[in-house]
Amino acid sequence: MKTLIRHGTLITAAETYAADLLLDGEKIALIGMNLHADDAQVVDATGKFILPGGVDVHTHLDVPFGGTRVSDDFYTGHKAAAFNGTTSHIDFARQDKGESLHQTVARWHQMADRRAVIDYGFHLAITDLTEEVLNEIPALGREGVTSLKLFMAYKGFIQVDDTTLFRTMLKAAEAGMLTMVHAENGDAIDVLVKSAVAQGRLTPEWHALTRPAWAEAEATLRATALAAMAGAPLYVVHVTCAPAVDQIAYGRAHGLNVMGETCVQYFFFTIDELRRPDGAKWVCSPPLRTAADQAALWQAIRNDTLQVISTDHSPFFYDGAHRIEYEGQPFSLPGKELGRDDFSKIPNGIPGIGNRMPILWTYGVGQGHLTLNRLVEVCCTNPAKIFGLYPRKGTLAVGADADLAIWDPTLKKTMGVQTSRHRLDYDLYEGWEVTGYPEKVYVRGNLLVDGDTWYGEPGGGQWLKRQVNAPIL
Ligand code: URP
Ligand code: ZN
Ligand code: ZN
Repeated sequence: MKTLIRHGTLITAAETYAADLLLDGEKIALIGMNLHADDAQVVDATGKFILPGGVDVHTHLDVPFGGTRVSDDFYTGHKAAAFNGTTSHIDFARQDKGESLHQTVARWHQMADRRAVIDYGFHLAITDLTEEVLNEIPALGREGVTSLKLFMAYKGFIQVDDTTLFRTMLKAAEAGMLTMVHAENGDAIDVLVKSAVAQGRLTPEWHALTRPAWAEAEATLRATALAAMAGAPLYVVHVTCAPAVDQIAYGRAHGLNVMGETCVQYFFFTIDELRRPDGAKWVCSPPLRTAADQAALWQAIRNDTLQVISTDHSPFFYDGAHRIEYEGQPFSLPGKELGRDDFSKIPNGIPGIGNRMPILWTYGVGQGHLTLNRLVEVCCTNPAKIFGLYPRKGTLAVGADADLAIWDPTLKKTMGVQTSRHRLDYDLYEGWEVTGYPEKVYVRGNLLVDGDTWYGEPGGGQWLKRQVNAPIL
């Protein structure tokens, strides 16, 4: 099938220019002026912007966490993503204790393959590093799971020690794979949490107060130093604060291969949200910080200390006692109410895969924090490059997958549960007005979204085998 998209304005990381695009089967076949193809379906994109599909490299779908499970699976999360301009993502396949890494990957394929609508890859989150597991790592890279994640927090659950982190880095470096860290000092946090709970400090605000910025900064520098000793590239996920940004800047200034990501929520919300009566909705780790940290994050995105904006999509119901209707079926799951009387029991995580692109368009680009080209760079191109998907994903180029969104820069929407389409009972951006929204979204040349019409089919998404030795940006 061929589609000819005419008279649009193409936005890439590098350029903004008027052109027609011919999609042939799953690929972009031609880009140029006044293209013709008699056998193509023609789409008039006059006045519209064509962006590569978003690549979200930090998501948690269908995973147990915090005494319950996230509420989006690989179908519902993909639908939310597609409607909001994201066409591929990389999810964390999390090893269970005693499991081989291949068993973990097989388990994630079981959850994902029959439900997927957009394209998806896996990072492997290591929680139990035995000799056998260590020796499995290179094979995993060759098989297309090219990034490994380690949690320096969540003590007693998935936190790893420095020996595990360092040995993984050494092995990953040898195999051309990328090590990612959740950088918070879990030992110090554990002491602070226990002390707060013992003193009866139980409200959601204490989630943030027991996870100080220095816990993040310390872990960020420790991981950077370990990576330097291991000769390994490092990617720090969900950077939230100025002191952590400073550690990455320090590493980069000293020629170290350290890269960093922040997530959309850290630009728009602060610890103040946790003081609201419904503050549990905003509980995530690392926590929301201050206005000064937000300014530091925007600056870090502009000056390339951070290279990626993702979502850390990990949605939990606000009130699991109430059912929602999803595609005509009732649905609910235990959620944030598990921690109604004790912040330490609130499932950590917030939604975002269906918010990132439109929110950044209006409240990032629209408010002058970054250009539209930089938005494409940090939300599409850089994530594809860093994680071994480029140039197949993340750009508009001949030969690339025909993953793209036709954005109407004048289209107004109100963000909220109806618009983000997460399978969830709340939205962080409820009532936020956006101007600029995807009108049509294609994945590998297939039209998934046309206005409010959904053409996505479970099982239509493809697993992404990624390349080792990806660029270090
Ligand atoms: O609060 C969060 N971020 N939950 C998801 C797991 C993680 O730490 O990324
Ligand atoms: Zn994390
Ligand atoms: Zn995460």
